[in-house]
Amino acid sequence: MYVCICNGIREKEVKQAVNNGAATVARVFKAHGCKPECAKCVNCIRNVIDAETVENTTLLAAE
Ligand code: FES
Repeated sequence: MYVCICNGIREKEVKQAVNNGAATVARVFKAHGCKPECAKCVNCIRNVIDAETVENTTLLAAE
């Protein structure tokens, strides 16, 4: 699913960026070599970052 239409960024690509160390929306854009255009996706990207961070933390805690 696309989370950023302007830059063609998909949810799975946001998750990959988070797993490679991107902890903010700005860093997700930077990881994809682009900048926000309309910025309507910012909250959605932030939600994906938060969910992926929680999932990673939960997985680490279970180890
Ligand atoms: S939808 Fe992401 S910048 Fe417009």
